[in-house]
Amino acid sequence: MKGVILAGGTGTRLHPLTRIVNKHLLPVGSYPMISYGIERFRQAGITDILLIISKQSAELYTNYLGSGENFGVNLVFRVQETAGGIAEALNLAQSFIAPGEKFVVLLGDNLFLDDLTPYVQSFMKQAYGSARVLLKPVDDPRRYGVAVFDPSQPDLISYIEEKPEKPQSNYSVTGIYMYDDMVFERIGKIDRSARGELEITDVNNLYARAGKLEYDILQLWWGDAGTFESLLEAGTRMRGVLP
Ligand code: G1P
Repeated sequence: MKGVILAGGTGTRLHPLTRIVNKHLLPVGSYPMISYGIERFRQAGITDILLIISKQSAELYTNYLGSGENFGVNLVFRVQETAGGIAEALNLAQSFIAPGEKFVVLLGDNLFLDDLTPYVQSFMKQAYGSARVLLKPVDDPRRYGVAVFDPSQPDLISYIEEKPEKPQSNYSVTGIYMYDDMVFERIGKIDRSARGELEITDVNNLYARAGKLEYDILQLWWGDAGTFESLLEAGTRMRGVLP
């Protein structure tokens, strides 16, 4: 199984820090943020990893990570020219994924304490053309994609609402997604949102409506380090995850 880390986002909510360096290289504890996603993949046996990065800081990424050898993984880099949404960035992974191949996608600013291994194993058992996302109960679901359930089908997500005013559950959809190459066909079917982006939630809703979106719930701490508060918290929570 392969892994894709999306690290091309510009991180405007973290200005002025991200005027100097890409968000995913900012310090979390004593390591650049990107290190943790790579380690979570390695821990789950996912060692062929595509990193989607921005032009900004490209050299810093290669200086720090090199081929990935020192981190126990094989890295391939691809530059995202413009920020057009998570699903648009994911499209850049198409040539990295072979027909019929399964893979895990991680948003590079999502930091978490769970080992991904059991979730990846569950996904391996799923049928071709289905997907799996990881959820986490949160205090303020309005900041995230939120899972809606149908009690008659408790193992499936029936719908995801992106940053709803009135959330129907407190289960946020984290930036950890599992697909196979069929996802690229589905990305081709969605339209740009009001903010002009290809939204990952629209892609996931194609799976949900077809009854093909399964899930697990993260057991330990999870956060997305997109704001100063969450970046600070991540620094404390992730302490000790890497040697
Ligand atoms: C994105 C997704 C959202 C998800 C979140 C997790 O939001 O659109 O569904 O809950 O990542 O980090 P963003 O942070 O890009 O606004």
